[in-house]
Amino acid sequence: LGKKVVYHTSLKSTQEMAHLEAAKNAEEGVLVVADEQTGGRGRLGRSWHSPAGTGIWMSLVLKPRIALQKAPQLTLLTAVGVVRAIEKETGLAADIKWPNDILLNGKKIVGILTELQAEADQIHSVIIGMGMNINQKKEHFPEDIAAIATSLSAESGKEYSRAGLIAAVMLELEELYKVYLKDGFGLIKLLWESRAQSLGKRITARNLNGTLTGFAKGITDEGVLLLEDDEGMVHSIYSADIEITT
Ligand code: BTN
Repeated sequence: LGKKVVYHTSLKSTQEMAHLEAAKNAEEGVLVVADEQTGGRGRLGRSWHSPAGTGIWMSLVLKPRIALQKAPQLTLLTAVGVVRAIEKETGLAADIKWPNDILLNGKKIVGILTELQAEADQIHSVIIGMGMNINQKKEHFPEDIAAIATSLSAESGKEYSRAGLIAAVMLELEELYKVYLKDGFGLIKLLWESRAQSLGKRITARNLNGTLTGFAKGITDEGVLLLEDDEGMVHSIYSADIEITT
């Protein structure tokens, strides 16, 4: 993965470009990287702050032969790979917040956005977008983001090689992806669970359907979060923002 890199100094969004590459029948593993994004996208229609030269903004094209409903597994796989790469490259221990945030000292350093191209039930390609805050200084974050987000550098005081981190992420993802295609989700799920900070805790989940508070029991094989409410009823959460409640 990442053997072929499509690099641009400035793009609206690497997701958009990766979708175009995929539509042109790009081979699996093509990686779109931009130094800056002018219209970076986050989950749930949010925007993603992507200033020039400080973070990693990239989108990877995968073409797994898996059922459509298994695609969320790839988001979880990506989170595991990114956490492992960060740890290997920097020695910093980040953890995962379901479904796709990576936190360092309780603040977000990485966001993952998975999008699909599919026909009927058949996946054509999966576009995995990764936004990694690397060398931003604390004071470079806009005020509203500073409360919830940070960068590797803002936490450790050191600077990191973005190229080195990209290579490390690709290496980890390739390894995990091979295991996944060969043996399925089992090991990836275990690795994910060992890095997930919210499991076994009391959480609040908010989405378009409303707000639910309860105990985070675990995830299913499809990557769905299981939340047990105070009446003992277990809810499947497909998409939400979660918060650890005390
Ligand atoms: C999130 O909301 O947490 C997901 C953020 C994903 C941001 C990345 S940056 C590279 C890629 N291109 C985009 O426009 N978004 C993703």
